[in-house]
Amino acid sequence: MALRPIVLMGDPVLRETAAPVESFDERLRALIEDMFETMYHAEGVGLAAPQIGLSERVLVVDVRNEDEPEAGRFAIVNPEIVAVSRETDKATEGCLSIPGLEESVERPAVVEVKGFDAEGRPFSVEADDLLGRALQHEIDHLDGVLFVDRVSPLKRQMLLKRWRKLQEEVGL
Ligand code: NI
Repeated sequence: MALRPIVLMGDPVLRETAAPVESFDERLRALIEDMFETMYHAEGVGLAAPQIGLSERVLVVDVRNEDEPEAGRFAIVNPEIVAVSRETDKATEGCLSIPGLEESVERPAVVEVKGFDAEGRPFSVEADDLLGRALQHEIDHLDGVLFVDRVSPLKRQMLLKRWRKLQEEVGL
């Protein structure tokens, strides 16, 4: 297992449409282990492969907490949102690729996601709350979409301005 460097907003890989995974092999399983390790190290609840520079349709999430100690840790390969609720909700989101920024984002309250596990077995989950939000956020990454694209144009402008300022401060 190894930590992988997380790429930041501004890196073109975060704007690509990631390619479907075709081989469910050892390389994929090692990638997923690395993604979990990298996510835990960064104290995130989700990570998509483009965030470590790989334009492939793989995500990991772990939203387990004291209330839900069991369900909530998933690696999903080639995930697809197959249904969304008409009802939406709003909650604050951040992103490991945009450290220092967060904003309230409106999304469908419930989603049904289908995909495959690391062994290539079909997988599906219906999710709401934090898991539903994390899955939508990570699947967005596979389509080159960031949470700053999911807010009003005015808020987006403010976030991007703030990001440029943060980057200047750390000398990027
Ligand atoms: Ni993110």
